[in-house]
Amino acid sequence: MARTAQRGTSKRASGRASTGPVRVGIIGTKFMGKAHANAWLSASRFFDLPRGIVMQSASGRDARETCRFAENWGWRTSTDDWHELVADPEVDLVDVCTPNHLHAPMSVEALAAGKHVACEKPLAGTLEDAREMRDAARKAKRKGQQTFVWFNYRRVPALAFAHQLIAKGRLGRIFHVRASYLQDWGHPDTPLVWRFDSKQAGSGAHGDLNAHIIDLARFLTGDEVAEVIGGVEETFVTRRELVGDAGAAIKGSRGRGGKAKTGRSTVDDAVLFLAKFKQGAVASFEATRMATGNLNRNNIEINGEKGSIKFDFERMNELEWWDHTLEPGLRGWSRIMCTEAGAHPYVESYWPAAHGLGYEHGFVSQVADTVRMLGGRKPEVTMPDFEDAFETQRVLEAAILSARERTPIRMSSVK
Ligand SMILES: NC(=O)c1ccc[n+]([C@@H]2O[C@H](COP(=O)([O-])OP(=O)(O)OC[C@H]3O[C@@H](n4cnc5c(N)ncnc54)[C@H](O)[C@@H]3O)[C@@H](O)[C@H]2O)c1
Repeated sequence: MARTAQRGTSKRASGRASTGPVRVGIIGTKFMGKAHANAWLSASRFFDLPRGIVMQSASGRDARETCRFAENWGWRTSTDDWHELVADPEVDLVDVCTPNHLHAPMSVEALAAGKHVACEKPLAGTLEDAREMRDAARKAKRKGQQTFVWFNYRRVPALAFAHQLIAKGRLGRIFHVRASYLQDWGHPDTPLVWRFDSKQAGSGAHGDLNAHIIDLARFLTGDEVAEVIGGVEETFVTRRELVGDAGAAIKGSRGRGGKAKTGRSTVDDAVLFLAKFKQGAVASFEATRMATGNLNRNNIEINGEKGSIKFDFERMNELEWWDHTLEPGLRGWSRIMCTEAGAHPYVESYWPAAHGLGYEHGFVSQVADTVRMLGGRKPEVTMPDFEDAFETQRVLEAAILSARERTPIRMSSVK
């Protein structure tokens, strides 16, 4: 256990406060740790929020590294024991940014300690873990505790705007949802990091990327999946170079002749499936980390009776829109720059028109909505809690069952 020197003094001595600043404890200090730390640091500078934010404590496995992380981002204390952070009376909200198998133990313990919890996606590595989290959140909700899940793409202005357009009926009846999330970093020479270990990740591209587009499809249409059909699951690379926690090759892992020692990848590299929504739309989903040439192509198209939308995260400030209510000669795809204050969600808190937003702003906006909700206000667009993210987890499960059993799966059979 290690702690940095206290930087500043907390205004409140103990107990989960319902007014006053939200005192945050973060677990996990790497990719998402950094994205969230930046968001907790920035949100009240951009947004006018009902409560302040105190970056109280950070926890990671390595004491020194965690201490450096805390000092860099301005967390008041740090510890290498996450149980200590969860029990800390100076923490009101626990932010979970660790590998998927740790989401359940960390969130459930934090809820039992009376904290609000903001957990990374997917809700968990397994449906069983996710169910435990949902049940704990239900119980805690009765005591006024809130849960939040970092499906950050909901707060990209173009997607939040598409959600509002569809909710207003501008697409009319929805016929198609066509979603794919394509990355290519899972090339054969990528080593065996935790994301390729089913014990830690639960699944591969599926939980990592399909989770995002299932959530987006549900968020954008306001509809729920009724049935999953034709799941396909593939692992292209079954053995990968062994590495340590930091992602570097394990010392001595190269055998004679400099050949790397390898271990088995136990997750999918790609999962595709079809689905039917309750209100009749049909959908296709594809997630892969082997789509060479596609770096972070989170891509969704929705076709309705009165129009269509298209979005690609690689051009995240733009939404493509087809208005089918126009006379035939005027119809065409228009490219909307979603940076217009007052018209497009979130942007008025940032920069003038066409001064584009980036990846980090989705997280900053999510913190803003989280603090609004903790201050008794509404988020700008709906926020997924554990109950909501459990629905996405059920669809993930149905797709895998469909792939493995080679049969359609009715959602009512996935509890
Ligand atoms: N919302 C998004 O777009 C998005 C993007 C990337 C990752 N994620 C999710 O965020 C989570 C973390 O992913 P990441 O990319 O930040 O991983 P990462 O490997 O970069 O970081 C994981 C962190 O967890 C810490 N950790 C691991 N075991 C721990 C333990 N026992 N106690 C304390 N800390 C521990 C590690 O030290 C590290 O700081 C995953 O659930 C992932 O699916 C979400």
